[in-house]
Amino acid sequence: MSVFGLDVGTSGVKGLALDADGGVVAAAEAGYPLSTPRPGWAEQDPEDWWRAAAVVLARLRAAAGPPQGIGLSGQMHGLVALDSDDRVLRPAILWNDQRTATECSEIEATLGLERLIALTGNRALPGFTAPKLLWLRRHEPDVFARIARIALPKDYVRLRLCGEHATDVTDASGTLLLDVAKRRWSDEVLDALALEHAWLPRVLESPQVSGVTADGVPVAAGAGDQAAGALGVGVDRPGPVSVVLGTSGVVFAALERYAADPQVRVQTFCHAIPGTWHAMGVMLSAAGSLRWLQAILGADYDVLTAEASGWAPTTEGLTFLPYLAGERTPHDDPDARGSYTGLSLRHDRGALVRALLEGVAFGLRDSLDLICELGRRPALGRVSGGGARSEEWLRIVASVLELPLERVAVEDAAAFGAALLGGVAGGVWPDVPAAVAATVRPRELIEPVPEWIAPYQAAHERFRDLYPALRACR
Ligand code: XUL
Repeated sequence: MSVFGLDVGTSGVKGLALDADGGVVAAAEAGYPLSTPRPGWAEQDPEDWWRAAAVVLARLRAAAGPPQGIGLSGQMHGLVALDSDDRVLRPAILWNDQRTATECSEIEATLGLERLIALTGNRALPGFTAPKLLWLRRHEPDVFARIARIALPKDYVRLRLCGEHATDVTDASGTLLLDVAKRRWSDEVLDALALEHAWLPRVLESPQVSGVTADGVPVAAGAGDQAAGALGVGVDRPGPVSVVLGTSGVVFAALERYAADPQVRVQTFCHAIPGTWHAMGVMLSAAGSLRWLQAILGADYDVLTAEASGWAPTTEGLTFLPYLAGERTPHDDPDARGSYTGLSLRHDRGALVRALLEGVAFGLRDSLDLICELGRRPALGRVSGGGARSEEWLRIVASVLELPLERVAVEDAAAFGAALLGGVAGGVWPDVPAAVAATVRPRELIEPVPEWIAPYQAAHERFRDLYPALRACR
């Protein structure tokens, strides 16, 4: 017996086949490119997602046999526009695309910020789906006129896999079209923005069956990558926070009850357990920043992080702002940009890397502080994402967050969480908490380094002062 989970990510599809104890029976991965046709734009071809998903599913089936259930997760917020024959009308506009600042202001002016928060729990952020529809109406009216359906990235894969137009409440939360408290599409938002209800897929709770594959395997509604990833590290209820060092960097807390941040500095979305919610701060470039620098420097990650560990904490005053693709939390600013300040003749390649690892950790600290203002300070973080493979980075992040960090046995948390949802849909576990309890295994703890904490507190202050100072020079 196995269950499959797919994570339709920004760099590729990752898939896992799990047994009933959470053991990995098979794993597969297939990549695709990201296109940035203009500065601040980020697009992908949905056909690439489907091709990669089909390859991954075929490999998992070859290794593990037919699954008892499949769960889908993926990058959130992306807009796939479809015509009346379900054909893709243009490349998908992704979560980290920054073209819609004007449309965000327009949405907040049309509904009024207070009403928008009351209805959706969030403010209009450029990566969200609704502003992208308004952008299309303004800039590509011919495409807009042909829209018959819209889909989020993992939901496009579902459409190809089982012919169903469906989504789940966690992913739908990131469209700005969902009444997050009531867990259903908001007619008031749709009407105010003159968008068609008929374009929207059915919205389901994450473990519900959304359809079946050609050979009868149930496919769970699934979850956005952050909610699925939280399940994958055992953050199904209030307690530890999920800390993600993926392309994006995230601090994610399950909430006791629905409560939007009155100042909407963090996102409040539905969680993947029916009737629950979560709050999260999202940095747009976390491990994405390291990937950028690694591509420029052209050396292996292991070599670079080893060189970085040769530098003492705070890198002799070198500070990196990780806003390479604009930022979301704590600065809702599509025009923010990255920077290195405090360079000296002594700084070398390892210093550039160390300052980058520290800058990302400071950005995560900003999100953690905002999350803490909404509730209790957590006692533990559970980490995932490609960056969590680096011990040195985790020591830096633990010291900056002043929070012990725990790794779990299986790294690909979003695919893991998706598999759990697939298993609940397929009857392997009775519900999501039972699936998490049966499968998620904490591995090792990375404690803050006591003598790094004070220098990092001071360096974080300097980091925080830099954003407004540099914005003033734009
Ligand atoms: C969450 C978000 C990102 C993407 C990246 O709001 O925008 O984490 O889901 O995959």
